[in-house]
Amino acid sequence: MPKVAVIVPGAGAGERFGGGRNKIFEKIKDQPMFIRTLEVFTGHRDVVQTIFVCSAADMAEVKERFGGHLGFMGASLVEGGATRTESVRNALGKVCDEAELIAVHDAARPCVSRVWADAVFAEAAKTGAALLALPLHGTLKRVADSGVVDETLPRADFKNLWEAQTPQVFRKDILQKAYASGKEATDDAALVEAMGHPVSVVAGDPRNIKVTTPADLAFAKAVVNTLPKPRDLGALHPFQDDLRL
Ligand code: CTP
Ligand code: MG
Repeated sequence: MPKVAVIVPGAGAGERFGGGRNKIFEKIKDQPMFIRTLEVFTGHRDVVQTIFVCSAADMAEVKERFGGHLGFMGASLVEGGATRTESVRNALGKVCDEAELIAVHDAARPCVSRVWADAVFAEAAKTGAALLALPLHGTLKRVADSGVVDETLPRADFKNLWEAQTPQVFRKDILQKAYASGKEATDDAALVEAMGHPVSVVAGDPRNIKVTTPADLAFAKAVVNTLPKPRDLGALHPFQDDLRL
């Protein structure tokens, strides 16, 4: 497998979560969500660098309370920007020469399993660009601001619709070129797509939820003990028994 640098943007404000502080500090099993997220990558055999992107507002607290832990894990800190795109762009400048692939994974997705990360790493190693995503199920309705249904979308219209997740993983030169465009997007793949490079989709899992609201946090806490571990797939490597997912 190619060597991977992982960028973990956590520099938002968590406004929709509420509560007056960044949601990334919320705990799952006694551990702040962003630390849990980082640990999936820092102990990974293919990962040569893990960069946590932290807001200017949270930087002092993160350094004081978690600086030692981050150092021990081998994660480095970069200051974020006003948008997710800016935050990732800041970290891109710090990616080490050794990395061949760059993975971007939201700090707010603490339930990622190494099994799913490995699947998208492997696809990106083959194609140069891949992301996890979930097909949309159910019956979709467009709802007016008044709260009344405008229309039910015909099934045929969303037959091929998928919701993007992270990790999103790219060959280093492809992602750097995509970000050099100066464009803004809500995920990394959109910038790569805009260059005309094909982006492969790997089927994700609904447990890899992005924590946006307190209800999402409740869901994350409920599923965290059910996540697949690499040994469930029969994958073997020397550190397997140390893995915490
Ligand atoms: N993020 C970031 N820099 C920003 C905005 C977002 O690094 N300027 C990160 C968030 O910390 C999060 C991920 O991007 O891990 C996905 O963003 P989102 O879920 O929207 O988080 P927030 O922007 O913090 O939440 P909200 O939009 O509700 O304020
Ligand atoms: Mg946001």
